Amino acid sequence: MFVADCLQVNQEGHLCVEQRDVLELAAKYGTPLYVMSETQIRKNCRLYQDSLKRFYDGNGLALYASKAFCCKEICRIASDEEMGLDVVSGGELYTAVSAGFPSERIYFHGNNKTASELVAALEYGVGTIVVDNLEELEMLDRLAAAKNICQEIMLRVKPGVDAHTHNFIRTGQIDSKFGFALETGEAMAAVKKAVSCPHIILTGLHCHIGSQIFDTEPFLLTARIMVGFLAQIRKQVGCELRKLNLGGGFGIQYTPDQDPPAYEAYMKRVSTVIHETCSLLDFPTPFILMEPGRSIVGPAGITLYTVGAVKEIPGVRTYVSVDGGMTDNPRYALYQSEYQIMNAGLATQEKTMRVTLAGHCCESGDLIGENLPVQHLEKGDIVAVLSTGAYNYSMASHYNRMPNPPVIMVKADQDRVIVRRETWEDLVRMDV
Ligand code: LLP
Repeated sequence: MFVADCLQVNQEGHLCVEQRDVLELAAKYGTPLYVMSETQIRKNCRLYQDSLKRFYDGNGLALYASKAFCCKEICRIASDEEMGLDVVSGGELYTAVSAGFPSERIYFHGNNKTASELVAALEYGVGTIVVDNLEELEMLDRLAAAKNICQEIMLRVKPGVDAHTHNFIRTGQIDSKFGFALETGEAMAAVKKAVSCPHIILTGLHCHIGSQIFDTEPFLLTARIMVGFLAQIRKQVGCELRKLNLGGGFGIQYTPDQDPPAYEAYMKRVSTVIHETCSLLDFPTPFILMEPGRSIVGPAGITLYTVGAVKEIPGVRTYVSVDGGMTDNPRYALYQSEYQIMNAGLATQEKTMRVTLAGHCCESGDLIGENLPVQHLEKGDIVAVLSTGAYNYSMASHYNRMPNPPVIMVKADQDRVIVRRETWEDLVRMDV
């Protein structure tokens, strides 16, 4: 019935996150409200760490891709679970460092890092900077020289693999703004340049082919290509790079009909592919990095809204308007993403309605979904949208000057605020 283990139903038929009745949470904190399960996040982190141990002799590290959900408490949890961290901006880096995340386990990505972001990374002692382009490589070498630092880097490579996912979230193919292309020789030229930079230590390669991917084959093909490229580098440049970052992108179940492969099965297959390719090319098995974001936090979160107006347009559709929308979850507007919704107070009852769940912005496209099956809904009901833990809070906006909802973390039967609700005063705080 549910898309995540952290969701349950109590005797009253109310949806619960772990052991907390979400109707009580909505009453206590108000709506709209993001609710996350700490146990689920930790469990997901362990799945990655354990799979690396089980199928790859522990010769790797899972990094949490913080773009999926970045706040101090999530960084603390990732740190506690001994994950590494992928950050992609000065803001994410600052959040991680403020949360006490060990900087040597931070990997700093991004296709257009500014000089001040790179300086901050050098000053915080970021472990690895994932360099995207030649301008960045030159700038970083200069900035590191000025500080008399030798900075470890990886190079972002476009392996030329087309992952079958939404156009906006595909990144591995040649027509992508990220990284150096393999097939044009750009990546090899970048390797040569990097090894010649006196204040740069090239430790390996990074790639990421896209997000919400269900098919394991593109990942396996990518692993094969990247190991092949490592061997080619040894041949042409004479250096043996030992680290390979295979990126994130593992799909999660948003609706009951979706069936993502089990992560262990992926890890087992990718491990076999790497070992086979390495032995074929007589190359030492690299230390690998995995970079999951969505699959760590996505299933662990739900969003609660209060139903306002219900407009049935006979023969057309029923609009159910809620007190949030595209400002806290822009994913339907952006990618036509699918979600499972429910009346949180009638969680076990049959879904008898089909609704368009509409937000409260002054915008027709402000929808959470269309033609969604749901139990009976009327004004005042609490509706839950499931699997909103990834790319909702982190992609929230202030369109129409809507304050962002708070984030509540649940652990067993306890709840706590990890991000406070914004107020109207917060919205004018930067105005002069
Ligand atoms: N590593 C890199 C370099 C990435 O660019 C990303 C995601 C990840 C790791 C994590 O991928 P994940 O495991 O979460 O799929 N806003 C879109 C998703 C954009 C993903 C961007 N990069 C969405 O809401 O679906």
